Amino acid sequence: MDIRELRKLFMQLSPEEKVAQTVQLNGSLVVENDVMNTGPMQDLGLPEELNFYEIGAIYNVNDFAKLKRLQEETMKNSKHKIPLLFMSDVIYGFRTIFPIPLAQAGSYDFDLIQQAAEMTAKESYLNGLHVIFSPMLDLSRDPRWGRVMESPGEDVYTAKQFAKSVVTGYQGDSSNGVPENHVAACIKHFAAYGAPEGGREYNTVDMSNQRLFNEYLQPYQAAIEAQTMLVMTAFNVLNGEPSTGSKWLNREILRERFDFDGVLVSDHAAIKELVPHGYAADDREAAKKGLEAGVDFDMMTSVYATHLPELIKEPAFAELLDEAVWRILELKNKLGLFEDPYRGLQSEQTGEILTEEAKTLAVKLVEKSSVLLKNNGSLPLQKDQKIAVVGPYGESRLTLGFWASVSGKPQDAVPLKEGLLKNLSTEQVQFARGYNLFDSYDGFGPLKAGIEMLNGPIEPADQLLTEAVTAAEAADVIVLTFGEQFLESGEGASRTNLHLPEKQVRLIKALKETGKPIVGVLYTGRPLVLTNVEPLFDSLLLVWYPGIMGGIGIANLLTGKANPSARLTMTFPRSEGQIPIYGAQLPTGRPFKADNPTDRFISKYRDESNDPLFAFGEGLSYSSFQGKWLDSEVNEQTINLQCHIKNDSDRTADTVVHVYLNQRPATIVRPIKQLVASEFVSLGPLEERSLNIELSLADLAFYDNQGQKHFTKGNYQLVLAIDGKEESLTVTV
Ligand code: NOJ
Repeated sequence: MDIRELRKLFMQLSPEEKVAQTVQLNGSLVVENDVMNTGPMQDLGLPEELNFYEIGAIYNVNDFAKLKRLQEETMKNSKHKIPLLFMSDVIYGFRTIFPIPLAQAGSYDFDLIQQAAEMTAKESYLNGLHVIFSPMLDLSRDPRWGRVMESPGEDVYTAKQFAKSVVTGYQGDSSNGVPENHVAACIKHFAAYGAPEGGREYNTVDMSNQRLFNEYLQPYQAAIEAQTMLVMTAFNVLNGEPSTGSKWLNREILRERFDFDGVLVSDHAAIKELVPHGYAADDREAAKKGLEAGVDFDMMTSVYATHLPELIKEPAFAELLDEAVWRILELKNKLGLFEDPYRGLQSEQTGEILTEEAKTLAVKLVEKSSVLLKNNGSLPLQKDQKIAVVGPYGESRLTLGFWASVSGKPQDAVPLKEGLLKNLSTEQVQFARGYNLFDSYDGFGPLKAGIEMLNGPIEPADQLLTEAVTAAEAADVIVLTFGEQFLESGEGASRTNLHLPEKQVRLIKALKETGKPIVGVLYTGRPLVLTNVEPLFDSLLLVWYPGIMGGIGIANLLTGKANPSARLTMTFPRSEGQIPIYGAQLPTGRPFKADNPTDRFISKYRDESNDPLFAFGEGLSYSSFQGKWLDSEVNEQTINLQCHIKNDSDRTADTVVHVYLNQRPATIVRPIKQLVASEFVSLGPLEERSLNIELSLADLAFYDNQGQKHFTKGNYQLVLAIDGKEESLTVTV
């Protein structure tokens, strides 16, 4: 509707109806089963006067028929016919579950990432959703934190590109409202939720302003520039204030500085949690602080519903509520809900979900985001080899990762076995489980029956080990699938010990005894500490949580049908004691160098190297490449760089070129290596070509501790990184 009509509608709302619009409830309260709920279920104590059909939004109902019914009831019972908003935790796919974001970002193929986001939006739209709670853009440098899986990783540049691609893919061109087959993005969690102390979930975050502005805020800002329509607050305290209640963060930074005029949603119960944080005396004060901070939606508590009616008797609060409700109505209007409350819900279009096109895209993304970390020549597998595929992921479909359980179905997943048998004959491959993915099914609550059914009975550990060794002895090469099971990472899955469990180490050692080469295929939602087992592998392919088409994409990579090109988005530490360890470290005054290894008074550990096991940006291919700088030109606003790249192999190959920046000296200490550009390049056999890379001069700027932006003239080092080799170039600006 046009803005005047919307205003008219707004003017007709009673104070109670306005308050009701700020309420967002989890679907578990209104429909039975199949609803994901990630927070403590409390007695909501919603006020009796609250008319359910006037509330603003429902989340995590993903069933077409249930959504349709909810909207029909709402349209029948809402006095002003204001449709409900349907939101959901669709993080990396609706039914077509793609690899987790930590994997996807490593493809550096941002067009492909955007296409996957478009597909996710389309499937969500066709199922009646309006808003999806992603992309999650919390910079993640601590693998102890379980949620790194849903982030694009540790690097600022990578996260910014990922943010733009996903928001654009979800929303399409939203200048005149959200088009058909698209949904509104809700980026999260504002802000800096990815840096909890000790890696412990929901814990305190404390960081300098320079780090906040130069690094942690950057990905959210990129998404806001890409026009994200919603932002979600974070659970954590940031520099002494809970993010959700911080006026500085949500008004000064988010709204004024970043110019965000969309809807701000609290995370699950985060307004109410201002009380246990010790920031509000009681729920009433929590509601007051939430509203003052500019939080429009109260997710899953009764705090706004109960306390705003009284608070808004003060005109200043009434005005704040008006702002919030106006933003919510504007969002509904941009989604076209007043014209069509059944947007995407007209008829069940199941045929358009999980299409061949979507699956092909998912296979491609698996191929482009699995990282080859090590290869002594045992990969790709050879046509005439006998292969023992050991480990639970040979046959398991539980390869989707934590968040896929909201709308995805493990039954859709293609196990590795199926993928391998498309490329290899049954006589060539033998499968053995090796170890139980789960040691018990107790404690899984409502998930128990489903997991047990999918995963099969738990078998005696010794028997599994013996079967695995027997299979290995009869083979030429072992492909071992191992790592985390899907509940070990994700929300609420912080860990202090990132080593493999003993049962996996025992299996790897027993397989090593056979003398056969071991190809490791690592399924995980986070970097693990593999220092003790890495030498036992001949090759190592990191597949993260690959999504429903993992089995096909991974088989293509193992057999050489596809050629790996992805890069590591998060550093793999040698030991937990090194954490946080990441690529863009600042130089110290006493750097460790090869010529001073025994000097006590330099920056190092007594019991561990400073280096990671696998560094950010690492990733091998079956081909090798060369690259060198050709030229550079500094203009008014840009630096144009030219380099020459060559595929040295006689097969088609993709590669990722990275460009790192270093400025020294500078008025603030800058990272030794800061990624500022990347190019995903496809090259034919022995093809060589020159490549243009454009940097904006804005990419050279930085923030100080007062949050002021600086740009200095002088010399900048630009490092071209390709295939593990680096070449430096000095540019004078
Ligand atoms: C809590 C999580 O932190 C957030 O990411 C999610 O979107 C909400 N719960 C809703 O489920």
